[in-house]
Amino acid sequence: MKESNRKVLIAGNWKMNKTVKETEDFVYELKNKVNNTKTEVLLCVPFLSLKKALDESQNSKIKIAAQNCHFKESGAFTGEVSVLMLKDLGIYNVLLGHSERRQYFNETDYNINLKLKAALKENFTAIVCVGETLEERKSNITNEIISIQIKNCLKDISSEDMKNVIIAYEPIWAIGTGETASKEQAQLVCKNIRGVLENLFDFETANNVLILYGGSVKKENIKELLEEKDIDGALIGGASLDVENFNDIIEIAEKI
Ligand code: PGA
Repeated sequence: MKESNRKVLIAGNWKMNKTVKETEDFVYELKNKVNNTKTEVLLCVPFLSLKKALDESQNSKIKIAAQNCHFKESGAFTGEVSVLMLKDLGIYNVLLGHSERRQYFNETDYNINLKLKAALKENFTAIVCVGETLEERKSNITNEIISIQIKNCLKDISSEDMKNVIIAYEPIWAIGTGETASKEQAQLVCKNIRGVLENLFDFETANNVLILYGGSVKKENIKELLEEKDIDGALIGGASLDVENFNDIIEIAEKI
């Protein structure tokens, strides 16, 4: 049993995977499996599949999120999607600052913060990702790096806003590599994140924020990770692409 009153959230991050039809089939299959679960279920799907995923998930336990958004409401930003456009579809969840966006699309804490403000202004829930590189871990500066990312990404965010913010700790060296942080390593960083949040806001705010772990989460390691005090769920890439596999993870989470 988890000691805290926080919910458990299992989020899938599909990245650039699945066609619209594949999305429809996946959500159709999953929704019948998860309808009576107490675990929260969220799928971060590609922009083109958002509408289909949302329609298919109506009246089910599954929530749908975008994997990114722009910080401006509209304008000359070729190839971008605004928060208002997502809201128009009925989407109210967004993933921000994933390390792949930081690495391949030059996202910085600064523009993640702008995106977060834009999303919160429209009553979205945002998952903000942070994580250290292997070099940073080896140099023993993980907690410093994560603290800086948290402070920068949450600049000018109020404790009221924090009710709609989820933090995902994803060590970059563990993403898609098959290498997971040990439960002790993950717990230590998540605990530190909660401490940083307490300093920035207050005990209650920090205590209520959901903190997810991400990086090669699979059914073999989900249990031990979720048993840790400060880990409230998982952000799952590869293992979220197969519906049976993803559902197995949710079922394990259900028993924690
Ligand atoms: P992974 O990806 O589970 O495939 O390591 C996690 C993520 O990038 O969110």
